Amino acid sequence: MSEIYSEIVGTGSYLPEKVLTNDDLSKMVDTSDEWIFTRTGIKERHIAADDECTSDLAVKAVEKALENAGLKVEEVDLLIVATITPDLVFPSTACLVQKKLGMKNAVAFDIQAACSGFVFGLTIADGMIKSGVYKNAVIVGAETLSRIMDWNDRTTCVLFGDGAGAAVLRATNEKKGILSYSIKSDGDYVDILKATGGPSATQTSGFIFMEGKEVFKLAVSRMPEISKEVVEKAGCSISDVDCFIPHQANIRIIDAALKNLDIPEEKVVKSIQYHGNISSACIPLALDIACKNGQLKKGDNVLLTAMGAGFTWGSVFLKF
Ligand code: ACO
Repeated sequence: MSEIYSEIVGTGSYLPEKVLTNDDLSKMVDTSDEWIFTRTGIKERHIAADDECTSDLAVKAVEKALENAGLKVEEVDLLIVATITPDLVFPSTACLVQKKLGMKNAVAFDIQAACSGFVFGLTIADGMIKSGVYKNAVIVGAETLSRIMDWNDRTTCVLFGDGAGAAVLRATNEKKGILSYSIKSDGDYVDILKATGGPSATQTSGFIFMEGKEVFKLAVSRMPEISKEVVEKAGCSISDVDCFIPHQANIRIIDAALKNLDIPEEKVVKSIQYHGNISSACIPLALDIACKNGQLKKGDNVLLTAMGAGFTWGSVFLKF
């Protein structure tokens, strides 16, 4: 029997209507467009409406991805939602999305790997597709980070936003799609980036806390390291990468990764300017933007690399 691969056949994304610019933020906390843009590359972020939850953003991204893939909702047999801002503690956001879309033939569940969630989700779906049991998977990264933001803390509130991105993975017997991957975690770093409250914690509600410099140092070493590892695993080299889509956390982290990997500027997708850091939604959003603007073409070798709280990090190398 020939080997099964999983290829991306559709992408979609959604950003809420409300835009919060750096100038808007400078009226809320002691900051400036100049400080935010030079240190992060962010110009604006989108904020969910009061009646919009993570599942609503996910639904809109999934609808577009399915349309782009030419797939009917009932043909989906696997739905994975990656999020750190679920609507409810339970049931899963994936089950809420399933209900809203009438995706009745899918098994739906959430995963939580912070900003690496979408990359982790792709690897899980790839394994399930390779088993031969699942054929059409949807992986979504969706967040309403504005809900866990301390809007008085200028060190974090300028960095994050809300939004969703989705990709449809389909089984194929041709050698394309996901060629290699690696995902990792290191719990020693749980305290440098976290939400300070939770249902089982002593503090029940809380906000994003981050030791920015420590996160920066880890990101600039781990992202290039794991990128090289997955490309080599596929028997290729970094020069074979046509399109590099890193987690959109901070432009300086992206630029440091590019320099370390010796990837030319024109091969990287940078969309952080328009949406800020949306954790698990960043990579699928950037992927969708690159498809729509023609930066990413059929047949390209694509490298996706993420890192996030946990610490978690991961890379997927695929033929688009
Ligand atoms: N506006 C103006 N001044 C600010 C702001 C702000 N929004 N935030 C902090 N400052 C001040 C600080 O108070 C400090 O002032 P001081 O010198 O008087 O004490 C000064 O600016 C410098 O602060 P630093 O924290 O040293 O600034 P730095 O240059 O390190 O930039 C940043 C901060 C952008 C957070 C940086 O550390 C960084 O990029 N870290 C990576 C973290 C990241 O990208 N996280 C994203 C989430 S993680 C993820 O996605 C996995």
